[in-house]
Parts: sequence; structure tokens; C-alpha cells
Amino acid sequence: MATRAATEHLPFGEKRDPRFFGKDILSVSQFERGDLEILFEVAHEMAEMVHRIGTFDLLKGKVLTNLFYEPSTRTSSSFVAAIERLGGSVIQINNVTFSSVSKGESLVDTVRTMEQYTDAIVLRHPEQGSAAEAAAATEKPIINAGDGAGEHPTQALLDAHTIREEMGGIDGLTITMVGDLKYGRTVHSLAKLLTLYDVRINYVSPEILRMPELLVKEVDAAGIDQIETAELGSVLPETDVLYVTRIQKERFSDTSEYEQVKDSYVITPETMLGARQRMALMHPLPRVGEITTAVDADPRAAYFRQMEYGMYTRMALLALVLGKA
Ligand code: NCD
Repeated sequence: MATRAATEHLPFGEKRDPRFFGKDILSVSQFERGDLEILFEVAHEMAEMVHRIGTFDLLKGKVLTNLFYEPSTRTSSSFVAAIERLGGSVIQINNVTFSSVSKGESLVDTVRTMEQYTDAIVLRHPEQGSAAEAAAATEKPIINAGDGAGEHPTQALLDAHTIREEMGGIDGLTITMVGDLKYGRTVHSLAKLLTLYDVRINYVSPEILRMPELLVKEVDAAGIDQIETAELGSVLPETDVLYVTRIQKERFSDTSEYEQVKDSYVITPETMLGARQRMALMHPLPRVGEITTAVDADPRAAYFRQMEYGMYTRMALLALVLGKA
């Protein structure tokens, strides 16, 4: 648990926001709307700074651990890019088979070791609840970069920032999530985060990959209108943000079940003909066929811009958590 008190003398110009400073980032449920406004504003400033000067020394002297027990390209490297663009550095552990984990070391012992060396730990782990377990054992901030099929809060933050930048705001929009809503942690976090806004959410999935009932209830309790369907066509014309996900092959215990649903939804240029002229097509990536490459040239295809917004969002989060925004 991150409990460090903000008592030490602060150098000139350094500000600490108590809503972020020293905090673990475990679930989107910990945020209020005002927190997000601050984060997005800082992310916007980060973008301007990167465009103007590329790298700057806001987090000079800070060291991050990137501890990844599951594969990652974007999350891992965007955290590396984020800390390095802020002048800090990173210890990258992304092949745990070459670390003491292969000797049988527990997650708790590994994170308790890494917090002796570094100022915060970004953790991706296959088990739901692992980030909370790590946070309970450590003083330094733990940033959940995906705990199994649980949550992926920093992805939801960057997704919301992307929606805001692409669509000019979030209130009033209809967001349609497509694909693996059962195992997809990005949509779990995003649906929860969107309860802070005035939106409508559509869920499009095969029957066996529906959004978990508990989550639908939680979103409903926040007063959000939701529609569940297997037919993308029935909700596409009213969609402002189409959020497509990969079927999470690695989470199926029965591979024949995966084979049945793997190609359920494929977005093509023809699909886009039925969508609004002003809309954003998003995907956390990697894609494995859910959106054909022929769609990439469509100005509504926002998934690579989404990655760029992701770096700025993670820069903002690191700056706020490490107390220098
Ligand atoms: C996602 C993840 O790991 O949950 N990827 C990411 O972080 N951008 C989505 C996925 O793997 O399908």
C-alpha cells in the first residue's frame, strides 16, 4: 500500500496533488470525475511539451520498474517512453523466465525487492487481484497494467482521453463495445470509468462472451443506459465511438470454444459505410483480424492515435503519482 506522507520539503515549482501523489493505481473505481479532468489537462500539456521539446526533465532522478508477467508491446513500451521523455529511467523486467520468478520467487517478494530500487512499479500479471496483492505488500505506488481478466485502469484512462480528444468531449456520446466482453479487461475498466459521464453504452458480443453480469449491474446502478446484443448492425448507426476488442484466446480453457467465436466481428470498409461520418473507431491493440488493414486509411480509424494519446496519458499519470505535475 502506498502510504508515503507528503511531508518533506518541496523544491520550488514542485506541486503535489493529494489525489494522485504516492497513490496505487489499481482500479478505475478509485477516480472521481474531477481527478480525470486534472489528468487529461496534464496529458494535454504533456503532448504540447513533447511536440515542442521532445524530452524534458520533470522526473529526472526517478526510476520506474516495469514488471510484466504477461506479453505486452504497447503498455510496456509506452511506460518506458513516458518515463524517459520525462527524464527518468526504467528497470524493465519483461521476461520473468530469466528472473528469480523462475526460481519460484513469490510476486510479493519480487515487488518488495523492486521497491527498494525504484520509485514506482508498473505490474502486469495473469491473475485477477494480483496488483492489489502487490500493493498491500509495498509502500511505493503500484500501477496495475492489467491483472488477468480483471482491470486495465491506465488503458481506460488513455481510452477516455482519446475519446475526449477525438470527439471533443465524452458527455452525450453512445459508446459501442464489440468482441470479447467477458475476458477483455480493457472494456471492464472502460465501462466502469464511463459511469462518471453521461453516456449510453452498447455491448456487442457472442452469447458466450457477454459482459459480466455484475459489471452490467454496477454500470446500471450508476444510471447508465445499456443495450446488449449480438448484432453490430442494430446499434452501429447510433454509435459515436466503436471500441473493438480482440477475442482473448489465452483466457479460454476450451480451444474449440475459441475457434467458434474467433471471427465473430470483423470491421471492414463496408462496415464503416454504415457508421456515422463523425465517429471514432478505437481498439486497444493488438488486433488479430477484427479490423482489416483496409480500414486504416479511414479518418475515423483512431487506434494508432489512441497509442499516442496513451503515452501522454501515462506521462501525466507518472508525473502526478510521483509528485511533479
Ligand atoms: C490489451 C490488454 O493487454 O489487455 N492490450 C493493451 O494493453 N493495449 C488488449 C489485448 O491484449 O487484447
